[in-house]
Amino acid sequence: MYFTLLAGALLFADFGSACFPNGHAAKHLVGWTPPLVKPEIRRVPRPIQNKIAINNVRIFDGYEIGELTTIVIDGDVIGTDASGAECVDGLGGVLLPGLIDSHCHPLTLEHLGQMSSYGVTTAIGMGCSPEPACNTLRNQTGLTDFYSAGEIATSPNSTHATPPTGPPDLISNANQAQEWVNQRVGNGSDFIKLIAEANGMTQAEHNAIVYQAHQAGKQSTTHASDIASYRQAVISKTDIIQHSVSDLLLPVDLVKQIIANNQTVTPTLTVARVVNANPLFNPSGNGSFHNATLNAGIMHKAGISILVGTDSNLLNAGINVAYGSSVHDELENLVSAGMTPAEVLRSATILPARQFGLKDRGIIAPGYRADLLLIQGNPLQNISTTRNILRVWNAGLEYTLA
Ligand SMILES: *[C@@H]1O[C@H](CO)[C@@H](O)[C@H](O)[C@H]1NC(C)=O
Ligand SMILES: *[C@@H]1O[C@H](CO)[C@@H](O)[C@H](O)[C@H]1NC(C)=O
Ligand SMILES: *[C@@H]1O[C@H](CO)[C@@H](O)[C@H](O)[C@H]1NC(C)=O
Ligand SMILES: *[C@@H]1O[C@H](CO)[C@@H](O)[C@H](O)[C@H]1NC(C)=O
Ligand SMILES: *[C@@H]1O[C@H](CO)[C@@H](O)[C@H](O)[C@H]1NC(C)=O
Ligand SMILES: *[C@@H]1O[C@H](CO)[C@@H](O)[C@H](O)[C@H]1NC(C)=O
Ligand SMILES: *[C@@H]1O[C@H](CO)[C@@H](O)[C@H](O)[C@H]1NC(C)=O
Repeated sequence: MYFTLLAGALLFADFGSACFPNGHAAKHLVGWTPPLVKPEIRRVPRPIQNKIAINNVRIFDGYEIGELTTIVIDGDVIGTDASGAECVDGLGGVLLPGLIDSHCHPLTLEHLGQMSSYGVTTAIGMGCSPEPACNTLRNQTGLTDFYSAGEIATSPNSTHATPPTGPPDLISNANQAQEWVNQRVGNGSDFIKLIAEANGMTQAEHNAIVYQAHQAGKQSTTHASDIASYRQAVISKTDIIQHSVSDLLLPVDLVKQIIANNQTVTPTLTVARVVNANPLFNPSGNGSFHNATLNAGIMHKAGISILVGTDSNLLNAGINVAYGSSVHDELENLVSAGMTPAEVLRSATILPARQFGLKDRGIIAPGYRADLLLIQGNPLQNISTTRNILRVWNAGLEYTLA
């Protein structure tokens, strides 16, 4: 950091204009399409005064990688005017919007730091308890931005009800749905998470919770990793289905219903690889990572919106998926499933931003949050180059503890 700042200062002194030859980059990018959403104006701006001009970078616009240019970070957003900016050499690297993990379980600030160090600037928690403790992870300046479901909805005899991770408030009747959802919303859940599984909630319970979530103005999202659970999630019309199907190939009728319902899917192939290899989680041996991958490809090809999520969690939980680095595993897994590198990058940036109503992020454009990941290499030719991380910024603040 110190060295680069020094180099930037020298550059500024020797070749003054080199710091801001062409302002921000977005306008003249090949294939550039204007942002579909207007960034939200922050009501309470964060007290960040920095202004940084990153020279010598190529911007990924969601589709293509542009010519070498300069981009300005102004406070916590992308700016347009480089005057007075401190210069940083982008080293000819590629600048991506910060990555979004749409299925993770960070529990501490250290976990958010691990995510930051891998360029994951937004964490979408898929269940977290106790809720007041989870809320302490929110709005951490300079760290990965955290949104989450609180307690998960599951029923007494299900695997997910098992202590220590089982939630205290279990569902054993559809009539509990309204009060249960109110509790979650009252404690700050951004959306509602349900579990579909063998010995889990009834269809009536699923339907009631999804209905109540929508009444409360929240999206619902449902864990389902086998075909029977997928059917429950589809019938309930939940907004997002978590995981892929591991035990059978998806029949055409089910795929059609997912499309008709406009449901999004987060296949989490990274955790499918781990659980299907473990008899504890795949007792009858009927699940496979291969089937999960084929099904992710089938859904993508059918036009279903796919998000990048990992199920990253505490490594000692028995389902070992590491915070941050696993997002890069998932990008590779989804390319193996048949998506293009540009598609998986959109599934880790603009698509989840829209899905979760985070209108201030997901693309690199003036006014948007300066969540940025600078890498070396061309991710459109080789998705694994996203691992070659040079620098990371969370809302304009560089994360330097990588
Ligand atoms: C986080 O910040 C947002 C936007 O400024 C605010 O609405 C929300 O209440 C904050 N949450 C916490 C837990 O501080
Ligand atoms: C849970 O399982 C026990 C025994 O396995 C059974 O007696 C009970 O009825 C089940 N409860 C529910 C809600 O399914
Ligand atoms: C919030 O969560 C705590 C701990 O899980 C719980 O005791 C409390 O009832 C919840 N409050 C609301 C308003 O939901
Ligand atoms: C994978 O899917 C195929 C085709 O539906 C099925 O026959 C098989 O049992 C599934 N599971 C495994 C472990 O291959
Ligand atoms: C595969 O086994 C699991 C239990 O491990 C079960 O819940 C699921 O229904 C089975 N799938 C099929 C297609 O039989
Ligand atoms: C489909 O879902 C997306 C994401 O939730 C939403 O933005 C869009 O408006 C929905 N489309 C329709 C036709 O409901
Ligand atoms: C893709 O990039 C990774 C990370 O830089 C590198 O290890 C790998 O060799 C590259 N693969 C090819 C085919 O170039």
